[in-house]
Amino acid sequence: MAQKVSLTRYLVEQQRVDGSIPAQLRLLLEVVARACKSISMAVNKGALGGVLGSAESENVQGEVQKKLDIISNEVLIEANEWGGHLAAMASEEMDSIHLVPSRYPQGEYLLLFDPLDGSSNIDVNVSIGTIFSVLKKPDDHPGVQEADFLQAGVKQVAAGYCVYGPSTTLVLTVGDGVAMFTLDREQGSFVLTQENVQIPADTKEFAINMSNMRHWDAPVKRYVDECLAGKDGPRGKDFNMRWIASMVADVHRILTRGGIFMYPWDKREPEKAGKLRLMYEANPMAWLVEQAGGAATNGKQRILDLQPTKLHERVAVFLGSKNEVERVTDYHNGA
Ligand code: AHG
Ligand code: MN
Ligand code: MN
Repeated sequence: MAQKVSLTRYLVEQQRVDGSIPAQLRLLLEVVARACKSISMAVNKGALGGVLGSAESENVQGEVQKKLDIISNEVLIEANEWGGHLAAMASEEMDSIHLVPSRYPQGEYLLLFDPLDGSSNIDVNVSIGTIFSVLKKPDDHPGVQEADFLQAGVKQVAAGYCVYGPSTTLVLTVGDGVAMFTLDREQGSFVLTQENVQIPADTKEFAINMSNMRHWDAPVKRYVDECLAGKDGPRGKDFNMRWIASMVADVHRILTRGGIFMYPWDKREPEKAGKLRLMYEANPMAWLVEQAGGAATNGKQRILDLQPTKLHERVAVFLGSKNEVERVTDYHNGA
């Protein structure tokens, strides 16, 4: 029987063979994986662990926080503070950046995360996840400021997510393709279950929250109308639809069997570019998708090229199978 490759071994071999992972980054990724394991355990206990329900507080984006949003945020911070690999962290659940306390050594990396993605699915026992992105701290000045985080997605040195579904799966890129690791609960470790993940360029499956249709812009409406028209319409084929309302779970499906995911700008809150956050939702997912041969845009431009202007910036998102993302992007650009 083929030997199982643990996440630790995978990272050590990447470090040794490709030189793509410095030791500090390897430690960082192992610590993030350990934190995800612990979040997975909490998620798994559900009502028995007293982790369901609202925390009755609001985050900086004015969203009501669930208990698990806060627990997951704390788990990630506590796990990452002391290892010496990080300079600072930023999270959906924290207004401003969190510096590594001065009692610990300071590292050269910056970690951003959405500790618990898909909060509306927590209490109904549907897949949720954690999304993370790693940047290098600019080395031209001492200390860390929020501005150090405002780097375009192309600057990421690692990105991934962990989906807490029927099984817990960690999906990772360090810029050398996408690998998936499934949590072996008996061994307590993540085991490599797929390497070189590829998204097919064509698909017959789209994901969008259809209840917002009346608020969309013309290009999005045109794209979805054409999918809905099926075999007899301009696309000449029938489409299927999925919407899990956890970006992590929707992206996981797309990495597994293709598809397009859309969370466009809409007229409900016209001053916001979209619902999803650029730095810890769109950027890491866009990089994973591109690394798997797919594409990711905000409707007009490649997401990874966008220069962020603030930590909690929002963005419209179109990602997944290349030909479909290019089509809806062309519609926006007047093609
Ligand atoms: P979060 O739980 O981190 O706030 O993110 C939820 C996001 C994303 O995961 C999902 O695709 C989307 O919100 C669902 O939005 P709707 O409820 O508007 O469909
Ligand atoms: Mn989220
Ligand atoms: Mn979240």
